[in-house]
Amino acid sequence: MPGTSDSVKVAVRVRPFNQREKNAGSKCILSMKDKSTTIKNPDTGETKTFAYDHSYWSHDGYTETPSGVYEQESPSSQYTDQKCLFQDLGQGVLDNAWQGYNAALFAYGQTGSGKSYSMIGYGPNKGIVPITCEELFKVIGTNEDGKKQLRVFFSMLEIYNEQVRDLLLKGKPPHGGLKIRQNPKQGFYVEGLKQVPVRSYSEIEKLMESGTFNRTTASTNMNATSSRSHMVITIRFEQVIQGDSGQSNTRSSDINLVDLAGSERADSTGATGDRLKEGSAINQSLSTLGNVISALADIAMGKKKVLVPYRDSVLTKLLQSALGGNSRTIMIAALSPADINYDETLSTMRYADRAKKIQNKAVVNESPTDRLIRELKEENARLMAMLKKQGTGDTTDIQSMLADNQRKMVDMQMSWQQRLEQARQEWEKSHHIDGSVIDKEWMKHPYITNVNEDPQLSGVIKHCFSKKCTFVGRSGSEDAIQLRGLGIEPEHIEVNVDGDKTFIKPCKATAAVFVNGIKVHEQTQLKHQDRLKLGSASLFLYIGYPEERGNDGTTDTYDYNYFMLELAEHAGVSVDIATPRDTHHTDDLSHRVLFQDFVDLLPKLAEANAISEELKRYTKFEAVVRSEASHDPKGTAAGKEVIIKVTNNQTKKVWIWSMNKFYNRKDLMDELYLKWLDGYNVVTTRDNDPFWDPVEDIFLGSCHIMLQSIGYCAEVDEHFTLHNYHGKEEAVIHVQLLPCDEKGHALEDDIVMEPKDLLNKTLNFTCVISQCMSVRWISEDHLRGVECRFTLPFQKPTKTKTVWHKGYVEFDFRQIYKYKPVTQKLLDYLHNNSLVLELWGKQVSEDEQLHSDGMPHADIETGNTDILTQLKSREDEAEMLREECEQIRKENFKLKQTVMVTEEKLRLLEMRGGLKRVGNKDRNMGASKTASSQTGLDVDFAKALRDFFQEMKDIQNGFKEMREFVTSTKDKIGANGIRQSFENHEHAINAIDDKMTDCLASLKKSAATALRKSRSGPDK
Ligand SMILES: Nc1ncnc2c1ncn2[C@@H]1O[C@H](COP(=O)(O)OP(=O)(O)O)[C@@H](O)[C@H]1O
Ligand SMILES: [Mg+2]
Repeated sequence: MPGTSDSVKVAVRVRPFNQREKNAGSKCILSMKDKSTTIKNPDTGETKTFAYDHSYWSHDGYTETPSGVYEQESPSSQYTDQKCLFQDLGQGVLDNAWQGYNAALFAYGQTGSGKSYSMIGYGPNKGIVPITCEELFKVIGTNEDGKKQLRVFFSMLEIYNEQVRDLLLKGKPPHGGLKIRQNPKQGFYVEGLKQVPVRSYSEIEKLMESGTFNRTTASTNMNATSSRSHMVITIRFEQVIQGDSGQSNTRSSDINLVDLAGSERADSTGATGDRLKEGSAINQSLSTLGNVISALADIAMGKKKVLVPYRDSVLTKLLQSALGGNSRTIMIAALSPADINYDETLSTMRYADRAKKIQNKAVVNESPTDRLIRELKEENARLMAMLKKQGTGDTTDIQSMLADNQRKMVDMQMSWQQRLEQARQEWEKSHHIDGSVIDKEWMKHPYITNVNEDPQLSGVIKHCFSKKCTFVGRSGSEDAIQLRGLGIEPEHIEVNVDGDKTFIKPCKATAAVFVNGIKVHEQTQLKHQDRLKLGSASLFLYIGYPEERGNDGTTDTYDYNYFMLELAEHAGVSVDIATPRDTHHTDDLSHRVLFQDFVDLLPKLAEANAISEELKRYTKFEAVVRSEASHDPKGTAAGKEVIIKVTNNQTKKVWIWSMNKFYNRKDLMDELYLKWLDGYNVVTTRDNDPFWDPVEDIFLGSCHIMLQSIGYCAEVDEHFTLHNYHGKEEAVIHVQLLPCDEKGHALEDDIVMEPKDLLNKTLNFTCVISQCMSVRWISEDHLRGVECRFTLPFQKPTKTKTVWHKGYVEFDFRQIYKYKPVTQKLLDYLHNNSLVLELWGKQVSEDEQLHSDGMPHADIETGNTDILTQLKSREDEAEMLREECEQIRKENFKLKQTVMVTEEKLRLLEMRGGLKRVGNKDRNMGASKTASSQTGLDVDFAKALRDFFQEMKDIQNGFKEMREFVTSTKDKIGANGIRQSFENHEHAINAIDDKMTDCLASLKKSAATALRKSRSGPDK
């Protein structure tokens, strides 16, 4: 029969806002008119329109019937419900099947965009797959032609990590999953995949339920996210027509229904800038699908010599005929309406646009049954010949193909009734026990039910507490509930049922148990609808006694997102993402994106941490919000992104990963973990180790030094605190910007009245960076070093030297910067910007570390725990003092500002009164002999400040001593007399503390006096 050439039909569908988007006040960026869909860029307002075969609006204009079905609100509503979708798309698939064409339906789109909703559906809102099956059987039921036998076979598989799992089979799949074979006639197929003959829709329903159950268990046990897996349901529809002469003819059609993995990381490999670009097998099928669609679209556009890479992935092999072969194919691109998903939605729309160009050539699959058998026989003969030729070589592949063919022949020769009977028996054998018994159990007893990231897989598993005491854990010993998953202990929790109360208790201190977001350590009573997190990734909703249950409290309300927000809230995330230099929250959209990124990342980090622990990789992953303001000379840049701080606790190496890199590496970790679960020895080399990277420099913190005074030729000479992204103090640095002449000699009395006086003249100053104190980075590991980086206006970026091993760093940096002539641009810059001084952490590579005779790591003998505790408490005290110091510094800053204002007033007065200008030195010290009596205030302040500075110097010296002491003590550990020296140390710290308190008090007193004076007027 001649083939008809038609292009892949493409439909897009937009879903309603989900709860998260509603809460965040998201805006809808999509609109539809007839067949076209328009997307609006939320930042620029720019729009793009694409035309498809269908554009389905399911965003609003619907109501919910009492039975929970969504339907059109009014006849004028644009809303497309599930039935319309079936009528438009599913019906065509069915018609094709009756005619003997293969058909395929794909759902593409980012996770949560509504793929499964359209394909499978939720509750009463059944998707295309169930409706198609239901309709198919409705028509079969009307067949009265005695010579026509109608047969339906159902199969369901999942592709995850390039392995095929038969979802209709319980238990572990064979090592490496089912094999993909190629047959010259059939193309690629899955060897040994169960194809269950079915005679009614309800049987299909049961099979799908059981497939979803198997998928859920596999996903929890292997820590495999369903959003990274593809699910393929195949319905084979055969019409066997008995001819008059006893010959039979078979017309068959394969309907492939494919729920693809989330498209969000379809093209992440390569785009991450990661050293490990290869990407994981987890992503392979999806990225290959993209390449195949591109290649096919190119061919359709007339491009020559295009190689379609079907063979590069399992998914594309299996769907070869659906994509550019013998099939009538439809793609549904599911779209999220929310502004935060703009990029992803646009990319889905582009993908769909490309897919509609693909041309397929579908032919009717019809041939005499005898011929099919004959072909199989011929193939067998060919295989046998190959076997003979290969002799003693490895013939397992050929043998298994032979066996597979044999099975097919037997199947074909067996009568339909026999096959149905066989399937029924198998079903009863495997589903009898858990089917009937468990169903009843959970009606009577409290239980926990799983909550999965994928709502399709939530509420699928139920663990019942029917006995007084139940253990839950990995070991699954007798009478215990077996729970595998990351971070689950052999015995994880003990659940006690007492009358009508249920109690939960962690079996040991290391068993992580969270109830409603809060970590529990002791026996805790559970209430109906409590949320449980066990280990690092297993989530459950507790359902109480039947009397307690209402109609609510399902995993619909308490979905994955609910759990994540609750956990994030208790982990203080909303606080974490607001960085200290947060000046404005007006950029609402980017703030929401950031929050979403952060919340999405948290569970993935927890998983990565748990995998690292199980594989003994000693690597810790933390999310940090990188704030552009820390690097921006104005200190106001609002840009923020989530980055990941990676620390190897053994080597003390630290890396910063972008989010994309983390997700790329996480896939590789998942892959490694799967291998490990499979019993492989997971040895990695640096070339393929997702936990390892060469050392890199790490941004520790920065400070902003106002450049205004340079414009007045006034010096800057201060200690600045370097803050990290979270506003924590990383170190204190002494910086001087000293106006000078060409040769670097200090300028005396050369202050300018107005910056513009400098215009077209020369400006030189020396930048001096002498010491940096209390460097946290080095005190954590003495093998590390630091350097300073900064860029002065219109100069090349500058670096100081790198200083290693000491928490008290002497940079000895001194450099003259020259501006000749001074331009208005420079003056404006100085007026409006700060110098951003960044402190960067340096680390030695592991190879260097091995050969270095540097100090040993913190692996101090265990006998010294006492000393270590003391040392820790000393460091805590130092931390407290540091904070106090910071307070004083702030007060100091305020005082200085007051002084500046006063000085400004004074200057104006001087000018009016024709007074002589005050020299630089006199200004600073305040003791001007020429100043009028009004300078009293100035003098007092300056005096107070001078005293204050002196005190501060003493305090700093104290700190310096203390730091050196700590260092030397660490070296001395193991020697005698340590206790004594620690006590001395304690005295020293107390003394500093007293001094600081005194200093604060006297500063306040002087300031108060000065203020009082200024209020009552300078003459009194
Ligand atoms: N057309 C729709 N109407 C109503 N709810 C929808 C629609 N599409 C998706 N949803 C809801 O959005 C959530 C995510 O949809 P789902 O189909 O599971 O996404 P995906 O399979 O793409 O990850 C589900 O809770 C689902 O009920
Ligand atoms: Mg889905």
